[in-house]
Amino acid sequence: MKGDIGLVGLAVMGQNLALNIARKGYSVSVYNRTPKRTEEFLKEKVRDEKIIPCYDLKSFIDSLEKPRRIILMVKAGNPVDEMINDLLPYLDPGDLIIDGGNSHYQDTSRRIKELKEKKILYLGMGVSGGEFGALYGPSLMPGGSEDAYKMVEEILLKISAKTEDGPCCTFVGRDSAGHFVKMVHNGIEYAYMQAIAEVYDIMRKILNMDSKEIGDIFENWNNGELNSFLMEISYKIMRYIDEEKGVPLVELILDKAEQKGTGKWTAQSALDLGVPTPSLNLAVEARTLSYFKDLRRDLSKKYERRVPNIPLEKEKILKDLENSLLFSIFMAFSQGLWLISSASKALDYGINLSEVLRIWKGGCIIRAKILNFLREIINKNPENVNLLNDEKSLSFINDKLDSIKNITKIARDFNLPTLVLNSSLDYFLSITEEDLPANLIQAQRDFFGAHTFERKDKEGIFHVQWEKF
Ligand code: 6PG
Repeated sequence: MKGDIGLVGLAVMGQNLALNIARKGYSVSVYNRTPKRTEEFLKEKVRDEKIIPCYDLKSFIDSLEKPRRIILMVKAGNPVDEMINDLLPYLDPGDLIIDGGNSHYQDTSRRIKELKEKKILYLGMGVSGGEFGALYGPSLMPGGSEDAYKMVEEILLKISAKTEDGPCCTFVGRDSAGHFVKMVHNGIEYAYMQAIAEVYDIMRKILNMDSKEIGDIFENWNNGELNSFLMEISYKIMRYIDEEKGVPLVELILDKAEQKGTGKWTAQSALDLGVPTPSLNLAVEARTLSYFKDLRRDLSKKYERRVPNIPLEKEKILKDLENSLLFSIFMAFSQGLWLISSASKALDYGINLSEVLRIWKGGCIIRAKILNFLREIINKNPENVNLLNDEKSLSFINDKLDSIKNITKIARDFNLPTLVLNSSLDYFLSITEEDLPANLIQAQRDFFGAHTFERKDKEGIFHVQWEKF
């Protein structure tokens, strides 16, 4: 038996993806650097699936049908380059490598170029959905050349998640488009998670709700407009009881958030491309701030905070919280899509935003009911890349504006940081304000550095001597 497709890297995601492909009727050759893992995978996970274990690269390559199709599920960064270099001596022109990790899009662009010279095809493919998604249907974001995509289209469509709008996989765009879109997916993921966390903080510290009660509200919201994977896991998290201590586990988890870099890359690329993504950026900052646990503990003792005596209407605040979450999630998508659109123009990706929203509808971490609404908006006018210029957006936002103002104010009064909720509101207030105080920034720049400015009342570039030396 020859392998229809090969998969390198048998960490959990790789194992599950291999099983998913095999369960769709394909034979899958697998290889892992440490043979022990391959043996364990075979023993513990593989049943009737057509999995061909290979213990050295030569036999792995020999086991594959030609042209060969090889998915890499190895750690992003150097391990990808190392594996490509190890594979190269055995490959023939026309073979295809697919990188299914969270690679930086610039690495993917470089690899595509390098391998093109060697006539090896390459796809950079975002894979979202965690372990469960990899096994039962992820959202797949492949990018590169369409020829390369055609070689695996059938398999990818079969293994991806399905919604009423079709399989959650499409050819995302040229070059590193797939990994760029996956990176922004993660940027939105960070903002989405942080917005939920900020709302949770307000519920527990201002409304004095316990985890069970918060879980019930989250579940309730998940049955409405906020229906989404992240809302669903959040209510389940609230209810998970630690066996040893008999209390909700979430209350025992140290408040230090880790990150592997995709959120930071999103912020970096937004800054490079000059696209405003404050909610995504501040979600990264929130994780970074959380990391200084010891410092926070020490400083919190020095800056005692008084709890204000303000009457609170719980039911109204809960409704405002629900609205604030919807508002912030909308703004996170607005920023993320704007960033993707800018990158698509700058890097000539040829990305279709409606298709991106469609393949995010299932399988991935940010799958959410609101995507249907966002897609309706973008379908009406594909140029409306930040979604704001639309009658439906207008009423959606206006409906929630008082709520988010109220919530960010209450949070301030009670000394709670709300980086993403605040920045979502500030993003909206800035981008919908004709007259910003940037005139003063320009004047200051011209004052100290003769950087020049434009005027409202006449054309041209100006500089004045603000003060005699
Ligand atoms: C996904 C996720 C996944 C990511 C984790 C952890 O779409 O399945 O985005 O790819 O690796 O969410 O990311 P952080 O460690 O940066 O939180």
